[in-house]
Amino acid sequence: MDSDCPPLVDHLLAPSGGLIYHLRALRHRHGLWAPFHRVVAGWLAGWLAGWLAGWQPARRELVIVGPNAGYALPDGFLARFERVTALEPDPLARWLLARRPDAAQLAFARLDCLTTPDGLAHLAARFPDAAILFSNVLGQLNAPADDWQTLLARHLAGHAWASYHDVISTRSAPTRDTPCAVSTAENLAATLARFWPGGELEVTDHASFRLAGDAPCRYAIWPIARRRWHLVEWAAHAPLKEKPGRPEFPCPQGGALPRGAHEP
Ligand SMILES: C[S@@+](CC[C@H](N)C(=O)[O-])C[C@H]1O[C@@H](n2cnc3c(N)ncnc32)[C@H](O)[C@@H]1O
Repeated sequence: MDSDCPPLVDHLLAPSGGLIYHLRALRHRHGLWAPFHRVVAGWLAGWLAGWLAGWQPARRELVIVGPNAGYALPDGFLARFERVTALEPDPLARWLLARRPDAAQLAFARLDCLTTPDGLAHLAARFPDAAILFSNVLGQLNAPADDWQTLLARHLAGHAWASYHDVISTRSAPTRDTPCAVSTAENLAATLARFWPGGELEVTDHASFRLAGDAPCRYAIWPIARRRWHLVEWAAHAPLKEKPGRPEFPCPQGGALPRGAHEP
């Protein structure tokens, strides 16, 4: 354990994750959440194949931050790596994750890399060769300094990392829910208009839009409950020395909002 980085503290009742999340997963993962989980499986497959991050050689080691019980991870995903380390504060989630059939190489670490300004620097130093997956967690926690985009650029520029995370949540049903890729640097209002075209939209902003800067990203709708929708972003970064001359990203061209956490 890094001496000056706080350890992950167990929690079962936190607003992000915890028992409520397990109950929701029990209820929705094979129904309401299933189409979104299929989209996540596609993003992860693309990341492993290299075409979602521009280009990225196979990594033998993966660190997953906030996997919970792996509800959104497709079967077999963990087995693609020789070593997988999960950073997850929920003890029930850890227990369930460790029992997945693909978890033979799984270990847990107690590093809390999300609550101090230099947490990501400690993560980078402790796992210098690992690919890092932030598993729907960066939209749940306030950045401990600046914002997540700045911290990721500052501390993980030399790592291959990817994140899917809530960008906004709302009680307004989207009129379009087809996942899309955005390769131009458009603003949040323009991205929202792809799913909620026209008119005003009341949202909770999770302060996690375009975490990989100007790199192309992807979006999908996650209906987390019957009357609550999240817009989820997929962002990925490959270290400069590993990028090819021309990034491969086969995608078409494409408010002032309050801040909040996961809705119950
Ligand atoms: C919204 S859940 C996402 C769960 C899962 N990855 C998914 O996509 O369904 C956020 C997860 O982040 C975990 N989490 C919260 N704070 C964390 C921290 N400081 N470090 C790592 N994980 C954290 C929570 O326990 C929870 O499992």
